[in-house]
Amino acid sequence: MSIPIYTYDAIVVGAGLAGNAAARELQNAGKKVAVITKLHPLRSHSGAAQGGINAAFSDEDSVELHEYDTVKGADYLADQDAVEFMCKNAPETIRWAERMGAAFSRTPDGKIAQRPFGGQSSPRACFAKDRTGLTLLQTIYEQAHRSGVKFWDEWYAADIIYKDGKVSGVIAFNIRDMQMAIFNAKSVMFATGGYARAFKISSNAHANTGDGLSIVARHGLPLEDMEFVQFHPSGLSGNGVLISEAARGEGGRLFNSEGERFMTKSAPNAMELASRDVVARAILNEIREGRGVGPRKDAVYLDVTHLGKDLIMAKLPELRELAITFLGLDMIKEPILISATAHYSMGGIPVNIAGNVRKNNDELVEGFYAAGECSCVSVHGANRLGANSVLEALLFGRFVGKTMVKEIDDIELRVATEEDANKALEEVNWFLSNNGNETIPVLREELQQSMTTNAGAFRTKETLEVVIAKVQELRKRFKNIRIQDKSTVFNTELQEALEFGHMLDYSMFIVESAVAREESRGAHFREDFNTRDDDKFLKHTMAYMDENGELSLDYMDVVLGKHELQDRHY
Ligand code: FUM
Repeated sequence: MSIPIYTYDAIVVGAGLAGNAAARELQNAGKKVAVITKLHPLRSHSGAAQGGINAAFSDEDSVELHEYDTVKGADYLADQDAVEFMCKNAPETIRWAERMGAAFSRTPDGKIAQRPFGGQSSPRACFAKDRTGLTLLQTIYEQAHRSGVKFWDEWYAADIIYKDGKVSGVIAFNIRDMQMAIFNAKSVMFATGGYARAFKISSNAHANTGDGLSIVARHGLPLEDMEFVQFHPSGLSGNGVLISEAARGEGGRLFNSEGERFMTKSAPNAMELASRDVVARAILNEIREGRGVGPRKDAVYLDVTHLGKDLIMAKLPELRELAITFLGLDMIKEPILISATAHYSMGGIPVNIAGNVRKNNDELVEGFYAAGECSCVSVHGANRLGANSVLEALLFGRFVGKTMVKEIDDIELRVATEEDANKALEEVNWFLSNNGNETIPVLREELQQSMTTNAGAFRTKETLEVVIAKVQELRKRFKNIRIQDKSTVFNTELQEALEFGHMLDYSMFIVESAVAREESRGAHFREDFNTRDDDKFLKHTMAYMDENGELSLDYMDVVLGKHELQDRHY
């Protein structure tokens, strides 16, 4: 079968906020750009971040306060030059989004409304009811379309073409009929999203399988700070579906089985609006100490009844619907059951502020860029503040698009041959022909369960080593896989096998990076090393995988700045 070859100036993989924003910049600058996306763009996970997007523009707020809150929230692991860039450009990003058509909620006097969010000194999250991510995604997708960006929907990016320190294209196949194709390009951007689907209880879409990260890692390129996975305080009990922080931003309160508003113990000032790592651990502590609620005693109450029907219907209508649909509880009338859920990946593909992917601490990869949750720039450090992810994705997506426009004319197009697709073709054919006795749902369940139990919000060397052994076992059993569906039409079983391979690889990065980090910082809480250790660990982890799947760790300096290290209290 011959393999079609398409040629563009730039390829963007992923069609969430970051991917669409970059593609639009490129197209508007006259570049020929294509977006390859395994989902329809409007199903991208950016559409699930509902609570808000941060920008300091009220009279009581300032860019400097936004920076300070972000750096403190990050437990000082964020690179302060990147944080400054993001916070400085946030207000203009909101105006830009609004000019494109994003309909933000308004105050009675017509200004963009802003609500409080965790770890923030001032109400800073601009919002569109509790549908902010979706509103922004619809807006930017519409505008990318309007500019003429070509979308390759339901195409699965299987590999990059990476040789001699340069990325020159993407290998992808059409999920509809398995047709493999080569996409040549002078520059390639990854905006492939996060990886919290490695956990059983997760707020993430099923599609968030960290494909982009493992594709990069398999070429011997580093992944940064992978141990830092955020557990959002409020996932619906039992399935982890996100109940936006907007509920606590509007005044929601948390109670344990004794009717105690337990945040008084761990964050007496900020209470429910402490940073997410603090609130998530407080919830889990209540449950571990026997003060949980619900039939399994594995939740706490989130109560918004005191806010009243009018406010809930005006500002939190989607959340109410979710709780009714999944729990049969109406938050207008009664508290709902929530607990912590794996939500966000602070780590990812290391990039500089301009979005160039790092080959190591000192060198960059030519023609390769990343933005959004798959990347680590690093503005979130060890713990992200709510409403900074939508900002990061939109803002860095747009600016990385501008970088690509600037650099593209200096990059020579390298034309691929059919042989460049051999590895991806062989992998697909191997899955279709292998006749073992293992199935993906069984292996995936074991991985997710082990990650949630052993590599969650509380970790020790022993628990993390349980996961390392589990991943090693699963890697062996994965070689004995059997795909029942041998067809070439929407073969989702095959796609899930490819995705599971990615999950296995990046899970190893999470746990090995976490074992080596013998301290507690932000979302990474080691019960056997329960304090922050700036002498030894004020540094980014850079992890590399060799061709045998073995990992080695290196470290990179954190970019410090005007916000000095302090103890962190809320
Ligand atoms: O809770 C939320 O609305 C999530 C937003 C975010 O992760 O930034």
